Amino acid sequence: MTDLGGDAIVRATALARHYGVGVARVAALDGVDLCIDHGAMVAFMGPSGSGKSTLLHLIGALDRPSGGALRVAGEDLVGLCARGRARFRQAHVGFLFQDGGLIARLSVLDNVALPLAYRGVGYRARRARAAEMLRAVGLGDRLDHDAAHLSGGEQSRAGVARALVGRPTLLVCDEPTAALDRPTARAVIALLRRAAADGLTVLLSTHDRDLADAADRVLTLDRGRLGAPQTQAQTP
Ligand SMILES: Nc1ncnc2c1ncn2[C@@H]1O[C@H](COP(=O)(O)OP(=O)(O)OP(=O)(O)O)[C@@H](O)[C@H]1O
Ligand SMILES: [Mg+2]
Repeated sequence: MTDLGGDAIVRATALARHYGVGVARVAALDGVDLCIDHGAMVAFMGPSGSGKSTLLHLIGALDRPSGGALRVAGEDLVGLCARGRARFRQAHVGFLFQDGGLIARLSVLDNVALPLAYRGVGYRARRARAAEMLRAVGLGDRLDHDAAHLSGGEQSRAGVARALVGRPTLLVCDEPTAALDRPTARAVIALLRRAAADGLTVLLSTHDRDLADAADRVLTLDRGRLGAPQTQAQTP
């Protein structure tokens, strides 16, 4: 299925990630070939344990492959040391996890401004950008609230704001709607769709059919291998 188009942001060849040794060895990813274009919204589906999170962690440079080749945003991730991966993540990747991943004792605004602090953006500028992002996800009236006092759905939307505030090249979302009720899930899906329409590449794992239906491409993982690609046109 490898597409050799020139505008790829992710290129993986024979990508593998093994855990453990001997009888405890697990091939979480087992020879994945993948090519994803800039600006695409791609959903990875598949049963629990099929390797979705493992693949997203490799693409987001949270983890290192055991074998194969992996280039993301022009960078060879296989050759990067831990510091290089951290630098890569700061430059290119926004992460969104199930629960929003906010820090409870910080205000909503400080949570969203935090990734910019790591990048050395000044106090006033980062707070202004964080406030702008929070207004964009409908939380302009919650800036000074304690993050712990937001509802679950509000925390998820704040998580989207935090993932986007650094203007990443790539947004990596591991089951972003898994903990949400339908209306809140729909709101998060709309925010991700809008991010993709703005040119961001959005990669996500999900068991949520509504979220997969919003993607440009749905790829299925099974026991660490990619199955036949589905396009939205082929999806019933
Ligand atoms: N740190 C680890 N050590 C050992 N095995 C691991 C580790 N992380 C993942 N695995 C194994 O790798 C396989 C793939 O796990 P992964 O978390 O990628 O699955 P998943 O598709 O995201 O599943 P889910 O839908 O439940 O989130 C599983 O068999 C899992 O047990
Ligand atoms: Mg997972």
